[in-house]
Amino acid sequence: MTIPSSVKHAKAKAWVDKMAALLEPDQIHWCDGSREEYDAMCQTLVEAGTFIPLDPEKRPNSFLARSDPSDVARVEDRTFICSQNKSDAGPTNNWMDPVRMKGILRDVARGAMKGRTLYVIPFSMGPLGSDIAQIGIELTDSPYVVVNMKIMTRMGEAVWDVLGEDGRFVPCVHTVGAPLEPGQEDVPWPCNPETKYIVHFPEERSIWSYGSGYGGNALLGKKCLALRIASTMARDEGWLAEHMLIMGVQEPDGEKSYVAAAFPSACGKTNFAMIVPPRAYREKGWKVTTVGDDIAWIKPGEDGRLYAINPEAGYFGVAPGTSRASNPSAMDTIRENCIFTNVALTDDGDVWWEGMDGDPPAHAIDWRGNDWTPASDTPAAHPNARFTAPAAQNPVADEAWEDPNGVPIRAFIFGGRRSDTIPLVFQAFNWVYGVYAAATMGSETTAAAFGKQGVVRRDPFAMLPFAGYHMGSYFNHWLSLGRKIPNPPRIFGVNWFRRDKDGKFVWPGFSENMRILEWILKRSKGGRGSGVESPIGWMPTYRDIDWEGLEHFTREDFHAAMAIDKPDWDKELLEADALFIRLYDRIPKEMIAIRTLLLSGLWRSPEHWELTGDPT
Ligand code: GTP
Ligand code: SPV
Ligand code: MN
Repeated sequence: MTIPSSVKHAKAKAWVDKMAALLEPDQIHWCDGSREEYDAMCQTLVEAGTFIPLDPEKRPNSFLARSDPSDVARVEDRTFICSQNKSDAGPTNNWMDPVRMKGILRDVARGAMKGRTLYVIPFSMGPLGSDIAQIGIELTDSPYVVVNMKIMTRMGEAVWDVLGEDGRFVPCVHTVGAPLEPGQEDVPWPCNPETKYIVHFPEERSIWSYGSGYGGNALLGKKCLALRIASTMARDEGWLAEHMLIMGVQEPDGEKSYVAAAFPSACGKTNFAMIVPPRAYREKGWKVTTVGDDIAWIKPGEDGRLYAINPEAGYFGVAPGTSRASNPSAMDTIRENCIFTNVALTDDGDVWWEGMDGDPPAHAIDWRGNDWTPASDTPAAHPNARFTAPAAQNPVADEAWEDPNGVPIRAFIFGGRRSDTIPLVFQAFNWVYGVYAAATMGSETTAAAFGKQGVVRRDPFAMLPFAGYHMGSYFNHWLSLGRKIPNPPRIFGVNWFRRDKDGKFVWPGFSENMRILEWILKRSKGGRGSGVESPIGWMPTYRDIDWEGLEHFTREDFHAAMAIDKPDWDKELLEADALFIRLYDRIPKEMIAIRTLLLSGLWRSPEHWELTGDPT
């Protein structure tokens, strides 16, 4: 295929030539991002056996893909930040000398696209042409990646116009690492089961991904560009690239606020971003709208506020657990024009996963392509099964979700998945306490990344797998941003996942999280009367939360969800210390100071600290 006339960027052309010479594809396809191209590629994927078309009535224009069973999630132990100096990547990232890594990559990439097509994907993270957007060009041999990038980013021809002759772009090279010999038959999900590399060169601002076709490993605009590379840009340029949802909240009197929340992978961002308030709230006039569900780019505005945009154009959301009951807006969003990966296929040509409403189907084909019945002892959908859905299909998309100026953020919320220790909600005493709380956040690992699940680890800012530089410097960047703005957003901690001694969640969660969000908003607007001081921050008392319409959740339940147990917190502080010791060379002095202050507060509090119903 000849180079389209819209491509006027000599450097980009030369780079594609050079990469093609190394990767040795059979042909090159310059993607134009059109609907026709998308449809044709979906058809090609159907013919290749990668896509199964779903029933056109039940799930119009939608497809199911089943990955190789070895390629189902991000691979954190194969993800590298190759800065010039090891100390700039920091102890929480894998590092290799960039020259050595490039040598390795050149070796594995040589001839890696033999027998395949190289697709050139021009894409924009952020609205096309906006000041805040970043352009990437992904070269890939995966048509599955092309169609997913079409949904997840602004992809196509128009990007070349924005780039012009010498615009800045992030080069992203991706190959599944499975060349085909002449005559060799392809498999539905090519990948390299032995070798995987997800590599970032932060100074050069380039990305290489080898061996995987799944999610964040392969859709390079998302975690690789919009978080790991963007976080280094943000550090240098004075803004933030965060693993955060952005939501709008409209109160009964019409006042609109925006909040951003960082929860680790598979810990409830998509759910919270699309929350449908409980009926009592809806009747009073509360409304929640979505700006983004996974990534936020946040810049200080001229008025001293922080403005956030969602750089993505789609949602790559966790399917299991998504239902009419838990997230009706997500169910509406995924009605058509979607790609489902590693979910189950029902006998009537629709998708199914654990946690969907109603009874499980009597028979289905599971994510591995095998027969499945409710009696099977393996799940029908992989726990990290995902839907790829256009954000524009979200019935509660915020009116400003594509506004290149972003939306002003009033509060930041941080929340991990914790069975114990962390209360349902608290407000940090101030910005620095908030940075400490976010920096020391722990969370149980989930199926979103390859490896052992359910183990509590520190996941600072929900960015452990996504920070492109030293985590200690990253904390410092947050502190210094807070010093530069006159009235920074208030910072809160939440934990939807606390369990009782029988292992049951103590908080009903999902739409009921609205009740906590209301308190957060009130506090972030300066509502000082509605909270008490706890050893770790400000907390609502039972009477500070609106409980209308919530049954079976008593004052005692609330107190249990909010309790602070000293032995648990002793452990928590030790875990934070362990992180600080690892980050010793760059840990901001404020973190050590707050640790000491927290300890002194906890030390004089009772073994089991509980709110009382009627505080003085
Ligand atoms: P990534 O896309 O991986 O970054 O994650 P995400 O944070 O968007 O994850 P998502 O919202 O898809 O999280 C899904 C998981 O969180 C499912 O297991 C849900 O059941 C669970 N979840 C979401 N909200 C709640 C809640 O309020 N309470 C409880 N107990 N679980 C929740
Ligand atoms: C996450 O793991 O945080 C995700 C999914 O959002 S992936 O794009 O695969 O990284
Ligand atoms: Mn994510």
